[in-house]
Amino acid sequence: MVDTESFIEDAVAEIREEVGDAHAVIALSGGVDSSVAAALAYEAIGEQLTPVYVDTGLMRKGETEGIRDIFSFMESLRVVDAHERFFDALSGVVDPEVKREVIGEQFIREFEREAKDTDADYLVQGTIYPDRIESEGGIKSHHNVGGLPDVVDFEGIVEPVRDLYKDEVREVARALDLEEVVAERMPFPGPGLAVRVIGEVTQEKVEVAREACHVVEEELEEYDPWQAFAAVVGKGTGVKGDNRVHGWIVAVRSVESRDGMTARAQELDWETLQRIQSRITGTNDNVARVVYDVTHKPPATIEYE
Ligand code: XMP
Repeated sequence: MVDTESFIEDAVAEIREEVGDAHAVIALSGGVDSSVAAALAYEAIGEQLTPVYVDTGLMRKGETEGIRDIFSFMESLRVVDAHERFFDALSGVVDPEVKREVIGEQFIREFEREAKDTDADYLVQGTIYPDRIESEGGIKSHHNVGGLPDVVDFEGIVEPVRDLYKDEVREVARALDLEEVVAERMPFPGPGLAVRVIGEVTQEKVEVAREACHVVEEELEEYDPWQAFAAVVGKGTGVKGDNRVHGWIVAVRSVESRDGMTARAQELDWETLQRIQSRITGTNDNVARVVYDVTHKPPATIEYE
């Protein structure tokens, strides 16, 4: 374990020395690593740092508001409302891997524009020790959104938490009063809700997935799943009032896992499942059916795409 107080002091001094009077940018994701990197850099260089949060429109319910709250102490925070551009870029795209590529590219474009706009010479990143090991070994590259350093010409890259493990980053986060980002949240895929709607990404499908994911997260908190969410998997017939409707089919998934490589579908009680079903169909007239996924990984993956 690191001595958090002296780690913070050293990291701040190092950033100050490296960046000097120049400007720096950081892409905030809401995750603990980039949050800690941003807070350290802000402590070091204040308003010379521009934290950029790109709202792709594919985030969880309340995520953007949460970011604004947590980082309200940074006056230079930029929240980029890019959801229309992401939906435009994704229009007609149905292949899951192409979705990931489109999202990654759009993200880089958004960030690049902001970085140029701020005249930043330095890029701050929340790379942690396991990330470096993984990328050296070539693992996980397709999971990372963006290869930011390649696209914008920075004088230097600053990685203040590069030697820390996740639990150490969490400790530093607590010491920096970033309690909200430390709260154990489930892993959330980089491409966001785009991989929780099968086929083309539309505003309507994403909205259904967002609300349903929120219900599932709330209802399953007591089960402490490794990951639990809902996905829009297709359309089917239902009955609303006196009418037959062609509505969305929402699949609920809740898994136990250690590292996401393998997973077990969680056993849930009937009452909980029924409560989830009635909340999801009750809040959206266009949802005709809710199903629970009992498949382990393998043979299924955790996400639907
Ligand atoms: P799968 O679906 O492959 O998911 O069983 C394993 C874990 O990885 C997450 N996941 C992603 N994370 N970008 C990410 O950052 C992605 O494209 C992506 N695809 C899946 C998934 O949520 C689970 O935690």
